[in-house]
Amino acid sequence: MDHYQNLVDGFHRISRDERLKRIQEFCHLSEEEIKTLTCETPLSVEIAEHLIENVIGYFPIPLGIATCFNIDGKDILIPMAVEETSIIAAASTTAKWIRKEGSIRTYCKGRLIIGQIQLPNVRNVPLTRKILHENRDILIAIANNCVPRLVDRGGGIRDIALREVARPTQDGVMMVIHILCDPCDAMGANLINQVCEALKPKIEELTSERVGLCILSNLVDTKLAVAEVAIHNIDLTMGKGIEEATLFAMADPYRAATHNKGVLNGIDAVLVATGNDWRAVEAGVHAYAARTGQYKPITQWKVEGTDLIGQIEVPLAVGTVGGVTRIHPTAKIALKILGVKKAEDLARVCAAVGLVQNLGALKALATVGIVKGHMLLHASNLAIAAGAEIHEIAEVRKRLAEVLRVEKHINLTHAKEILEEIRVSDRQTLLI
Ligand code: MEV
Repeated sequence: MDHYQNLVDGFHRISRDERLKRIQEFCHLSEEEIKTLTCETPLSVEIAEHLIENVIGYFPIPLGIATCFNIDGKDILIPMAVEETSIIAAASTTAKWIRKEGSIRTYCKGRLIIGQIQLPNVRNVPLTRKILHENRDILIAIANNCVPRLVDRGGGIRDIALREVARPTQDGVMMVIHILCDPCDAMGANLINQVCEALKPKIEELTSERVGLCILSNLVDTKLAVAEVAIHNIDLTMGKGIEEATLFAMADPYRAATHNKGVLNGIDAVLVATGNDWRAVEAGVHAYAARTGQYKPITQWKVEGTDLIGQIEVPLAVGTVGGVTRIHPTAKIALKILGVKKAEDLARVCAAVGLVQNLGALKALATVGIVKGHMLLHASNLAIAAGAEIHEIAEVRKRLAEVLRVEKHINLTHAKEILEEIRVSDRQTLLI
């Protein structure tokens, strides 16, 4: 058995200490990093105060590891920060299946982010176009002057594009200048916002038109991450069920929203763990999903012969340097566990995790249904919600599994009844 296989073997069954030991060894984590992961060294108040305002405390969510991912031929551990039961289990089980029967390939299309400079109501559109076109190089030079360190790293402003946008009030023409920037390994929000604001006076001076908003766009269709999954020897009934689930989502935005939520379950958890702006990615993914005028699924699955083929293509402006990724100690460790340095590599991992997460959900939905697996994993949460003490959880969980097998569903009432039964029986034993 190879090193990675040894690490992930039975990972969900061993104790947390044992998991940490294996991760520490595999990812070369220091004792200090382990203390950060376990919160023995808590996030300092200085960092918290630096990140946000009016700090009163922390809101911890669990950090777990999804296992068995082999992306582009490389074995990888996926740190996921998420509160929802079954996401990490489903990602790991599905990745294990793909690892055995298929493969995951990823790539990126484009590396530019978009900053928008709005000219709300342009008096002379052809003249403004001409002026901006003639001064393109000057504007790019001004823009690059404000981000000298980015230019030194090989990034910077690459192009300027002009768009005309109809005003919804039909009282003139809005123009939008798109500033296209290669942010290297940063997400680039601050960089591009600075650039747009720095260009404002020059654009007003050149065009004599008023500039409105200067801000990045989260619809980064100029920076897409693609992942593809191929699984061989598929059970055709299951494969057709998964294909049919794609058709449902293509046809119906109500289903597409839930389908995409399942994808984002995976992507968001990696983004949170690595300190990335998941709201920005969510906004971009949803806007991209609606780019044809109808909200559509961001993944597709089809059966080809005896293979199941899936694909995802999403805008993913993420960073591995700068912002929270640089400051938050846990985010730094998550990047170390992933073993990615470049933003492009992180985007590819996110796309792969999203696609695998989606497959896990669709496989369950197309076969046994989501309730069975989800509910069983949810049993511990029900036990805790019912008031079980740590030592009682395992027994409540076991009995809930039995109820689920017979009644096909479990809820808080079941958990409370079981807990009461256990306690009554314990009291009786003590009296004997
Ligand atoms: C639940 O968090 C996600 C699912 O609803 C996704 C889906 O329906 O595809 C199971």
